[in-house]
Amino acid sequence: MSERFSPKVVPLVDLRAGALPVPAAANLPGGRITANGLLTDTLGRNLRDLRISVTDRCNFRCGYCMPKEIFDKDYTYLPHASLLSFEEITRLAQQFVNHGVQKIRLTGGEPLLRKNIEVLIEKLSRLRTVDGTPLDLTLTTNGALLARKAQSLKDAGLQRVTVSLDALDDAVFRRMNDVDFPVADVLDGIRAAQAAGLGPIKVNMVVKRGTNDQEILPMARYFKGSGLVLRFIEYMDVGATNGWRMDDVVPSAEVVQRLQTEFPLLALAPTSPGETAQRWGYADASGAHDPQAGEIGVISSVTQAFCGDCNRARLTTEGQLYLCLFANQGYDLRSLVRGEASDADLAHAIGHIWTGRSDRYSELRGAQAPDTGGGARRVEMSYIGG
Ligand code: GTP
Ligand code: 5AD
Ligand code: SF4
Ligand code: SF4
Repeated sequence: MSERFSPKVVPLVDLRAGALPVPAAANLPGGRITANGLLTDTLGRNLRDLRISVTDRCNFRCGYCMPKEIFDKDYTYLPHASLLSFEEITRLAQQFVNHGVQKIRLTGGEPLLRKNIEVLIEKLSRLRTVDGTPLDLTLTTNGALLARKAQSLKDAGLQRVTVSLDALDDAVFRRMNDVDFPVADVLDGIRAAQAAGLGPIKVNMVVKRGTNDQEILPMARYFKGSGLVLRFIEYMDVGATNGWRMDDVVPSAEVVQRLQTEFPLLALAPTSPGETAQRWGYADASGAHDPQAGEIGVISSVTQAFCGDCNRARLTTEGQLYLCLFANQGYDLRSLVRGEASDADLAHAIGHIWTGRSDRYSELRGAQAPDTGGGARRVEMSYIGG
């Protein structure tokens, strides 16, 4: 049965208006927090990664993210006036960078749908970390507009892209995106990104049992030796509309097992603290890692939570700061940035919010009995950004 007709989809609870107000700087408890490149939360986790959602719209309707029956023609997207402007985003991003952010990822929805996104990229590419180094500036896209935009993104200062791709088989892919979009166009987009030098390119595949898990091996065969890193993502209970069930999750251990039937793999060390993916290298005949063949990654948010060193903050399209993908409220930074707040006030507010952070949803969920996912009050992935 197509995901489109899934009876499990549950109605959307709109959390967008319910932002937590951030008190004026002078009213925040504790001493003044100035940005010095090292911000630590209550669990000792540093702020390193900022994900900025630039639009809540998307031209795909993946059932696990924006199911068609909810995100239909009557769905109300955010009005333009409530979106952060590029100037507002850059001003906030600067303060996050002053607090230690080294990587910025633009997300959506589909970020390439935001008009003149290159202008924002150009502004962000000029930011420098506290040590004076350029940021790791990247973007997650479904690839539909990539063939057209790869070169202008590169010219604007984007370093790399991550492309979501859930299947190589055209029929399966069209069913997954649910707007009948052909896979060949995404593959063209990936080639254009390679040609433009937007690498290292990562390819993210969300695996849903019975829907696209038969594509695990074909995807590995296709990307092995290509220089691209394919990553298999466990289908998560994010948001409240996708009707998530544990039975639909293919645990990463099973993905690796299935791959091992055809390709010998060996575990590789993490490249950076707080990394979402566990890396596996293709082995050569002697059992050593063959760098020419490359590597794959598995992202096990459900079966092996990685909250312990989660260094990611999320800024929504309308300027709410979320401390966890599964949070049900964000902090309203837009009011500050549109009000009287100075840059130092913004830095103080961000510092105050992060130092109070204790979120570790996936770990806690893992410790409980698996739930059915339905009906929980959680923000949608298309709003907060992947
Ligand atoms: P790279 O720096 O390119 O390796 O990016 P990344 O590892 O941060 O990964 P990416 O942004 O491509 O995220 C891949 C997927 O991992 C997302 O689409 C989510 O499904 C999942 N993911 C990313 N961050 C988190 C997180 O903080 N919590 C959970 N539970 N899942 C996450
Ligand atoms: N589970 C896992 N990943 C998801 N994404 C969106 N929804 C989910 C979900 N339910 C991620 C995918 C996609 C990116 C845009 O967001 O990685 O590629
Ligand atoms: Fe769009 Fe990505 Fe969500 Fe699919 S997963 S609906 S491409 S934002
Ligand atoms: Fe970070 Fe929340 Fe994801 Fe855990 S569940 S890794 S705290 S975003």
